Amino acid sequence: MGKEFLIAGNWKMYKTPDESRQFIEALAGTFPETAGLTVAVFPPFTSLAVVRCLDRKIRIGAQNMFPEDAGAYTGEVSPLMLRGLVDFVLVGHSERRQVFHESDDDVNRKLLAALRHGFLPILCVGETLPEREAGQTLSKVEGQLRLGLAGVAGDAWANVTVAYEPIWAIGTGRNATPAQAQEVHRFIGGWLAERAGAGAAIQVLYGGSVKPENSLELLSQEDISGVLVGGASLKVESFSAIIHSGLKLLGA
Ligand code: PGA
Repeated sequence: MGKEFLIAGNWKMYKTPDESRQFIEALAGTFPETAGLTVAVFPPFTSLAVVRCLDRKIRIGAQNMFPEDAGAYTGEVSPLMLRGLVDFVLVGHSERRQVFHESDDDVNRKLLAALRHGFLPILCVGETLPEREAGQTLSKVEGQLRLGLAGVAGDAWANVTVAYEPIWAIGTGRNATPAQAQEVHRFIGGWLAERAGAGAAIQVLYGGSVKPENSLELLSQEDISGVLVGGASLKVESFSAIIHSGLKLLGA
């Protein structure tokens, strides 16, 4: 069974519209369109209209989305505004949960709204260091999956992606070892298969200090089907090198 990789770059609060356009134009020339490989970047909202359609092999996602269609929600961005601009929507990134106090219920509302509007949500889950040290990794992740994916049914499962991002590995330079990641990915894969059916083949990405030096080994793990890259997605050279790890494993 061939693997399908999703290599995603979360730019967080970096890059002006001009910088975003230059990045996409430069990245586009560094890799070929390849079956089994999807590349996506998640620029800030202010860059979405600029990067849209610049290169069709680079898919675009939003880093967040409000679950209501319209209303008195100062500063928020609705699904209707994102139509035609993005394919993917990140929900429940640990920075949204920690800095902006999003609850599992908020995350679930966003995820269901994304599905309702035809986007592909990527649900982020992951434990803190104290939770890992207390042996609570799998129970924390299970709770986030159960609450975050509540109400997903039938064909909608096929549009869901999960990203396992241990919080202690995000932006710290300290990635989970491939074996640590694989253990959680195996658990998540089993959990999803029980609900969605094994045939749904839901992708599970690893995130947290992914870089060119560790991407090949992480992507080689049986149950890792892609990566969500923060810091190393901000430079064309390093993001492209990570994409090339995926290409290598695909035999391209
Ligand atoms: P990092 O971020 O690659 O800089 O650790 C990952 C993320 O937050 O998605």
